[in-house]
Amino acid sequence: FGKSIKLLDKTTSTQEDARQLAEEGAAEGTLVISEEQTGGRGRMGRKFHSPRGKGIWMSLVLRPKQPLHLTQQLTLLTGVAVCRAIAKSAGVQTDIKWPNDILFQGKKVCGILLESATEDERVRYCIAGIGISANLKEDDFPEDLRNVATSIRIAGGKTVNRTALIQSVMSEMEVLYELYNEQGFEPVASLWEALSGTVGREVQVQTARDRFSGIATGLNEDGALLVRNQHDELVPVYSGDILFNTR
Ligand code: BTN
Repeated sequence: FGKSIKLLDKTTSTQEDARQLAEEGAAEGTLVISEEQTGGRGRMGRKFHSPRGKGIWMSLVLRPKQPLHLTQQLTLLTGVAVCRAIAKSAGVQTDIKWPNDILFQGKKVCGILLESATEDERVRYCIAGIGISANLKEDDFPEDLRNVATSIRIAGGKTVNRTALIQSVMSEMEVLYELYNEQGFEPVASLWEALSGTVGREVQVQTARDRFSGIATGLNEDGALLVRNQHDELVPVYSGDILFNTR
């Protein structure tokens, strides 16, 4: 992964650039990186703050063989890869909030957006978008993000070598992707659960349809989060947001 790299100075969103390359037949592992994004996108149509030169804004082309409903597993796999890379390369311990926000002491340092192009339920390719707030200083965050986001630099107290971190993410991705293709989702799910700050906690789940409270107990075989609700039922959550209960 990351052997073929397209480096951009400025772009709207690396997701679009990677998508275009994938449409043109780019191989699995092709990576697009930009110094700056003017229209960085997050999950659920949110904006993603991606200022110039401060972070790692990149998108990776994947060509999985699994059916569409299992692409959530790749989202979780990407979270594990980034979490491990941040620990190894920058020495900062983070945890994962389901599905794939990477947090340092409760504040977000990285977001992941996995998008799939399909044809008759078959996955043509996926684009794994990774946005790491590597070297942002306090002032680089807009005011409304300061309570909820931080950077690896602020967390670790020193400037992050972005090239080394990118290489580390790529090598972790490669190792985990191979593990996943050879042994399936289970070993990846165990790694995810061990790095998760969500499992074992009381959570509030917000889905498109409703909101409920319960205890997060782990992942099911598809990568959905299992939450034990007040009626003692184990509910699989396929998409939505987790709000930690403030008790
Ligand atoms: C989220 O936190 O909701 C996901 C954020 C994903 C951001 C990355 S940055 C590189 C790629 N390009 C984008 O526009 N988004 C992703």
